[in-house]
Amino acid sequence: MNTRQPQIKPVTGNTGLEQVLATVWTCLREGAAPGRSPFSIAQLATVGIEGTAKVRYVILRRVCEETGEITFHTDVRSAKIAEINANPNVSLVAADLEKNIQIRLEGTASIITDGPVKRSAWDASRDRSLVLYRNPLVPGTVIDNPADGQAGNQPTDRDDGYENFCVTVISVTCIDWLDLSADGHERASLMRAGSGWRGTWVAP
Ligand SMILES: Cc1cc2nc3c(=O)[nH]c(=O)nc-3n(C[C@H](O)[C@H](O)[C@H](O)COP(=O)(O)O)c2cc1C
Repeated sequence: MNTRQPQIKPVTGNTGLEQVLATVWTCLREGAAPGRSPFSIAQLATVGIEGTAKVRYVILRRVCEETGEITFHTDVRSAKIAEINANPNVSLVAADLEKNIQIRLEGTASIITDGPVKRSAWDASRDRSLVLYRNPLVPGTVIDNPADGQAGNQPTDRDDGYENFCVTVISVTCIDWLDLSADGHERASLMRAGSGWRGTWVAP
């Protein structure tokens, strides 16, 4: 049995791992670009208040390779925000199921509830996305039937619901890349190190 420990070295200079890192960020950038891509929607996992795992889909809104950050929008009243406030360690997974590529991310989430980043995200959002934030009912409120959960009247102001909207930024610290498309399956593990990345190939 090969018991050699993985060599977690800087990615720079390792052509294969550099290529993986570049491909990961390309996939994520395409996910956040207008239109649908396999990486437009990711599953976000948080640690629940009771300690159980919680997972749900979110839409990638912004991706910045330089800072290693990805962003999604959500309702400050939603359960995930309480969970992130209690424990900001989150994971995401997204996949291109046609190409058999999976990207898993780990990172630390921070919540932006005010300021220019939130303002420009709100202003750039389509009206149909903002409907959710205008609902007076807190997400997850128990109702008697689905009709009771609808947002209701037309907004009088485009900023209606602004106070319920937030931008969540995840600072990515770990990337797990899995490519099951090749003849020889490939998996790589990458870790943020300062402004760069360290990484290694791992057994799939
Ligand atoms: C295709 C799809 C995309 C979604 N995108 C988002 C999103 O970007 N932000 C969000 O808060 N919820 C999004 N949701 C809803 C969440 O998956 C989840 O149901 C909701 O946010 C409540 O989650 P929570 O109770 O764990 O906070 C999406 C659901 C689907 C089906």
